[in-house]
Amino acid sequence: MSDEGEPGASAPLGKTVYGEPEDAGHRVHISDDAEVEAYLDTALGTDASYSPAAATAELEPAAQADSIVILDFGSQYSQLIARRVRELNVYSELLPFDTPWSQISARRPKAVILSGGPASVYEDGAPHPDPAIWSSGLPTLGICYGMHLMAEALGGEVVSFERKEFGPAVVSVTSQDGLFAGIEPEQAVWMSHGDSIERLPDGFRSTARTDSTPYAAVADPNRALYGIQFHPEVVHTKRGRDILRNFVIEIAGARQNWTPANFISSNVEDIRRRVEEHSRATGTDGRVLCALSGGVDSAVAATLVHRAVGDRLTCVHVDHGMMRKNETELLRTAFEQLGVKVVVVNARERFLRKLEGVIDPERKRHIIGNEFIRVFEEEAARLGQIDWLTQGTLYPDVIESATSSKEKAAAKIKTHHNVGGLPDDITFRLIEPLRYLFKDEVRAVGKELGLPDSMVQRQPFPGPGLAIRIIGEVTAERLDTLREADWIVIDEIKAAGLYHSVWQSFAILTPVRSVGVMGDGRTYANVVAIRAVTSEDGMTADWAKIPYEVLGKISSRIVNEVPGVNRVVYDISSKPPATIEWE
Ligand code: XMP
Repeated sequence: MSDEGEPGASAPLGKTVYGEPEDAGHRVHISDDAEVEAYLDTALGTDASYSPAAATAELEPAAQADSIVILDFGSQYSQLIARRVRELNVYSELLPFDTPWSQISARRPKAVILSGGPASVYEDGAPHPDPAIWSSGLPTLGICYGMHLMAEALGGEVVSFERKEFGPAVVSVTSQDGLFAGIEPEQAVWMSHGDSIERLPDGFRSTARTDSTPYAAVADPNRALYGIQFHPEVVHTKRGRDILRNFVIEIAGARQNWTPANFISSNVEDIRRRVEEHSRATGTDGRVLCALSGGVDSAVAATLVHRAVGDRLTCVHVDHGMMRKNETELLRTAFEQLGVKVVVVNARERFLRKLEGVIDPERKRHIIGNEFIRVFEEEAARLGQIDWLTQGTLYPDVIESATSSKEKAAAKIKTHHNVGGLPDDITFRLIEPLRYLFKDEVRAVGKELGLPDSMVQRQPFPGPGLAIRIIGEVTAERLDTLREADWIVIDEIKAAGLYHSVWQSFAILTPVRSVGVMGDGRTYANVVAIRAVTSEDGMTADWAKIPYEVLGKISSRIVNEVPGVNRVVYDISSKPPATIEWE
């Protein structure tokens, strides 16, 4: 094994981020807008199995940006490499390890990075890149397994290592140039390997060593080939970013032109061109529809498309009544200020009626999804001919697999809701302007576009909204109670400067009532629970260690300001075994 990651975390052999994503069960583990998008797909009869590659083919937002191709050999850190390169303002693209050289070179990258991976190069069936890569003349950096591939392919030898190294280590840099220009000789790094180079290929020399291997880093500068045994993308490698910078900027000579402003200008131009060309060819008006969920992804996608096509864009926001306090109003105002046409459909009563007497969480989800689809169908029919659909699909959704999570979600929702959709002959073309972006890049683009911070920095919020944070029946009164309590939680978390350091923070209205005293009298009122978690991606989470003073303030404000609540508790469960949401 060559790249087993941090202890406790393991990627199955040969599985890459292109492999099967985890089955999320009833949950939709994707960008916070994807559930609403999936509803829209279903409502409008778009084909959930459309090919992301085909959708991409027409849109080349990075055409003017220098790029780095990263081949993914299954390391759990592959996406991280891509993000680190982007942090240098250089566009990077993560491709499957076996992408043919013709497809790589067509992108005209400035360099290639080979990720780590769980396999061993000498094993049968170990993943290999297209060998044309070795004679391409492109600067190439192999990380861990990627370095072993390079050594093996060019005539060296890789063997299983007796002293396997996982975790922090110190390397001695023996050649302070190339990757290590400006880097001190003793370096704290993150190791994760069970194999090692035994014999170097011709032309290579060692550039760093550890106590256990003379080949912690190797280089053949004449061919611009570099290898490192440790992981520069991981924060534990102290100067990892500088090492990547040396490769990407100094060695490969990539220009740092991947910026929000450049992204916006090239995308706006591209979207405008596509829509206009299509309109000319078909004689249609080129009208675009976007579903605004309240989340950052659809907000940014809509704003970008609006810059490109102006009034041809119509946004629809279905107010199902499960939004947080003021959220729908904020959305409407923000978009009106930007001059975007927004149709806010007040469907609160309609959703409430459907939810009457329902306590089962899955039934709530089902009913809300179903009703959403119905409302969209009605609105779309009212809007007349629509040619394009804008969605806020993100890069991680795209690279997760050919059957992306969003499509899975759409498929799941379709089977759950069993709806007909509009007539079959309606075909929308898709504009997915964020399909190249990571979430933090979406936020940066949103900021650059002038969207308010409250929208751009918003914590994830589930599609079914507050309905799955009210345990038991959802009624107008209980929604009001939860909305007030939720507002106080967010208000105090923001006041304490914690809003961005926690993944989510919110209130849950429990079905429990308890006895209390207020003034001279006894009360028998609702218990509200507070949930705040830290997390990287929502898949696992820990309860946040919110300071007692902040919790105290939240508690006393809720009990004093929210009618019908006399007790507040704090949820100290991690995920697993608990989930983030209570339903
Ligand atoms: P759990 O509760 O499964 O949540 O730990 C993980 C993440 O997913 C969000 N979540 C949902 N998002 N529809 C959504 O769009 C849902 O039904 C749903 N359920 C959970 C949750 O807020 C958290 O970020």
